[in-house]
Amino acid sequence: MDLLKVENLSKSFGALWAVNNVSFTVGEGEIVGLIGPNGSGKSTVFQLITGLLRANRGTISYDGKDITGFKPYQISRSGIARTFQIVRPFPEMTTLKNVMVGRAFGSSSARSMKETEDEARRLLDLTGLTDKVSATAGHLGLIYRKKLELARALATKPKLLLLDEVMAGLNPTEMMETVEFLKTVRNSGVTMIVVEHVIKALFSMTDRVVVLNAGEKIAEGIPQEISRNEEVIKVYLGDYEHA
Ligand SMILES: Nc1ncnc2c1ncn2[C@@H]1O[C@H](COP(=O)(O)OP(=O)(O)OP(=O)(O)O)[C@@H](O)[C@H]1O
Ligand SMILES: [Mg+2]
Repeated sequence: MDLLKVENLSKSFGALWAVNNVSFTVGEGEIVGLIGPNGSGKSTVFQLITGLLRANRGTISYDGKDITGFKPYQISRSGIARTFQIVRPFPEMTTLKNVMVGRAFGSSSARSMKETEDEARRLLDLTGLTDKVSATAGHLGLIYRKKLELARALATKPKLLLLDEVMAGLNPTEMMETVEFLKTVRNSGVTMIVVEHVIKALFSMTDRVVVLNAGEKIAEGIPQEISRNEEVIKVYLGDYEHA
């Protein structure tokens, strides 16, 4: 079954169509990659799905329901979570508190403070932040803030998770660990759309890939097909080292 269905989605900023007539679906339990050159509209698609931007045209259905025009909090309550490309934790709070806040405002809140804290600690362990539990989020390095973004998004107990470049800046070992971790997240029943420029890592975890260029969908298929698609190579993959 389709968990998410995006149809003819369009968003303009002045004269620029950042997203232009884009349609795709995401099946329950799938990991779908969303790729394309800088400025091709990937993050804008996430803003539209999560209600931070309103589409000029098009519809978004989730779990069989039309959620076009829903407010961000309604979308979050319905089980869609995201990370931000530009990470934005609550800077004065510890990493633990940041994750606990995510848990408190998610799709179903925990029974008690103790349970909230236990779950937050477990997520910090799983995302590689065990040593940073008491660190102030604003003082964390970029990599750790990215991990915190992921832990915060997971804390809301999403059914659909949108990841915007969570692997940027990680070393190869950390990247592999993240891929393995995200696979276990998927196996726990979370559907994902993953935006990532690290193509090798992305292709190793995605069932299907949607390619954007200048706001338009130019290809869709399994990773092996996409890696051989001439237009995709020309506008995007040719410029990237993905050995
Ligand atoms: N709030 C905004 N106001 C005006 N233009 C915007 C806004 N947000 C995005 N854009 C423009 O829309 C286009 C798509 O941007 P978007 O951030 O979605 O690209 P992207 O695919 O995520 O790129 P990257 O890989 O660099 O993150 C770009 O030309 C960008 O400059
Ligand atoms: Mg982006």
